[in-house]
Amino acid sequence: MSANSRPPIPRDAGIASIGLNFPPLAMPVEELARLRGQDPAKYTVGLGCQEMALCTPEYGVVELAVEAARRALERWGGDPADVGMIAVGTETAMDMSRPLSAWVAERLDLRGAVRSYEVKHACYGGTLALRQAVEWKLSGASQGRAALVLAADVALYAEGDPGEPTQGAGAVAMVVDEPSIARVDPVSYPWSEPAFDFWRPVGEAYPRVDGAFSLDCYKRAAENCFKALVNGGSAEEVLERAAAVCFHVPFPKMVKKAVVQVGRSFGWDEERIDRFFADKVEPSMQWNRRCGNAYTASLWISVAEALRGLPRDERVLAFSYGSGFGAELLLLEAGPEAAAGAWASDVETDLAARHRVDAARYGSLRS
Ligand code: HMG
Repeated sequence: MSANSRPPIPRDAGIASIGLNFPPLAMPVEELARLRGQDPAKYTVGLGCQEMALCTPEYGVVELAVEAARRALERWGGDPADVGMIAVGTETAMDMSRPLSAWVAERLDLRGAVRSYEVKHACYGGTLALRQAVEWKLSGASQGRAALVLAADVALYAEGDPGEPTQGAGAVAMVVDEPSIARVDPVSYPWSEPAFDFWRPVGEAYPRVDGAFSLDCYKRAAENCFKALVNGGSAEEVLERAAAVCFHVPFPKMVKKAVVQVGRSFGWDEERIDRFFADKVEPSMQWNRRCGNAYTASLWISVAEALRGLPRDERVLAFSYGSGFGAELLLLEAGPEAAAGAWASDVETDLAARHRVDAARYGSLRS
């Protein structure tokens, strides 16, 4: 292709289609509390958790990712041959070398002139994949083609680990192209510091966690990202302009703690912080409560919920956090197709179809 026959470089890029998928099983955290001899209120009130989505041996991270991708591509309506990038953020790697994107591409028969890869940075990996896709579009390198971005994970802790009630699973797929659902602002606000707050050494099945330290890292990252966004201006003006403020949701109480820290850093009193949380944050964590921590997918499940039904040009802020640690605050603006919120049917379908697991079945799933 000669330089002058190239498609024009787009001025805007963002989310053109969304597909979600939750796994076929779930267990209420009260059931886990009984199994572990804990007061259920510790999990429901102390951590703010409700249900843990669980996979089966037959339905794991590949199936989650493939189904979310299939739904997003079908909804997009474009030609799959126009997908020029598949970027998958995950920390549920199938292999140390072969990317999860290859499993997805195989099942969906996506091949040819496609850049296909996996991104790793704990729960932040999906956001990095999305950023790379948006930047690829805005650079002109995409040559008018679309990217398929995936965030998919199965989060399991060792049995009896304090993180166990926060477990979950889920996948979000986004076609990045024309911003018909949401424009992603090219400017974002990253913050990273090397830390061992949550990590999983090669060959180990479950993560190791320094729990209290991980909470501090998350809160510090949030404070720094929001401060960079506000940039010495009026926090009220900048944050009130957003219709919704979404966070990575390892467990809902974590998000409340981060909002308290961010609010205090702006000099807000407790009443103002509570109001901000209730109006802008809490409403888009309802899907998260039904699936638990889905690692890379967690933030994007919240963003998908926030965008559903949003009038054009309304703003959504999205705070991504991944242990290790890396964080980034993104700004999105609803496009004309956000109002219809077509992807909400994925969540309704999956929640209606899933089965409730009791302690005995949970035990057999873990063995
Ligand atoms: P824990 O040992 O259960 O903590 O572990 P706790 O004893 O501090 O209790 C938790 C809360 O329950 C406390 O509330 C208690 O007071 C309360 P707080 O004081 O914090 O507001 N509580 C009760 N409330 C009502 N009734 C009761 C009761 N008893 C106690 N009877 C911990 C908690 C979060 C550490 C654990 O679940 C864990 O290790 N989780 C995994 C790590 C994690 O999620 N960290 C979050 C930040 S890091 C992150 O987000 C990244 C991540 O997603 C991974 C990635 O990036 O890939 C995890």
